[in-house]
Amino acid sequence: MSSINFKAISPAFGAIVDGFHVDDVQASDKPVLNDALDRFGVLVFPDLDLTESQQLELAKVFGEPSKRSRPAADRAERSPYADYMGLVTNVRKDGVPIGSLPDGEMWLHHDGCFIDEPYRATILYALEVTSVGGETRFVDMRAVFCSLPDDLISRIKHLRGTHSFDYRNIAERPTQATFNGLAKSATHPSVIKHPNSQRPALYLNPLCTVGLEGDGSNLSDNKRLLDLLFDAIDQSEATFSHRWAKGDLVIWDNWSTCHARNDFPAGETRMLRRNIIKGQKLDAYFK
Ligand SMILES: [Fe+2]
Repeated sequence: MSSINFKAISPAFGAIVDGFHVDDVQASDKPVLNDALDRFGVLVFPDLDLTESQQLELAKVFGEPSKRSRPAADRAERSPYADYMGLVTNVRKDGVPIGSLPDGEMWLHHDGCFIDEPYRATILYALEVTSVGGETRFVDMRAVFCSLPDDLISRIKHLRGTHSFDYRNIAERPTQATFNGLAKSATHPSVIKHPNSQRPALYLNPLCTVGLEGDGSNLSDNKRLLDLLFDAIDQSEATFSHRWAKGDLVIWDNWSTCHARNDFPAGETRMLRRNIIKGQKLDAYFK
């Protein structure tokens, strides 16, 4: 019988998974772990020693792993699992990054907000970490929504956020000019109803959200409104930072949380193995 239990990381959200053994995952653990992901938003599995195959099997507990689109610069060696296994690393070969998102700080964002069916979850497994920095900071967007004043909610409740993908600039807000040149973009309700928990969550973020639409105003009209919302996200107390150790596996719910990355020393190696869990279209909380 499984002995998995969960230890809260912060008052609002996040949990450390205790008593988990990757070789002993049982069918009954699947709903337990999925319910925990919905409830806590972020699950940390410390001190694992995973092959790619084991990591992929664990990813399947949470849904269907997505085949990744391989960045042009991604020169990682191929393995049988390479289509489902990305590398987030600053390691370079002949000066070219072998994975994705190699360097530095990254602003708060939801993975996959720039596609029509945003990812359900992201998994990162730490192979090598830096001595300082590189923490992943999470924010509970259910709590951010609950913290908004009523007048602000009434202004955004029927608007949709426009999200763009331009990870060449990972610590810079996109502009109308850059947005117009982007291939990947999507709109989603500004306040979503979480597909599993049915709870409301603010679904906007400072890195990818270009504008709000739906009330006839244009992107620049809504800049001040977005600034107010981004301040609420940045200043939320429903946040914690995960300091990575080798062997940590962290999975987060991309519908109810957003995340950022702290800067880290360029001269040290950082390497994490990533899986993406497929998502679905997100419905508005307010009809
Ligand atoms: Fe991300």
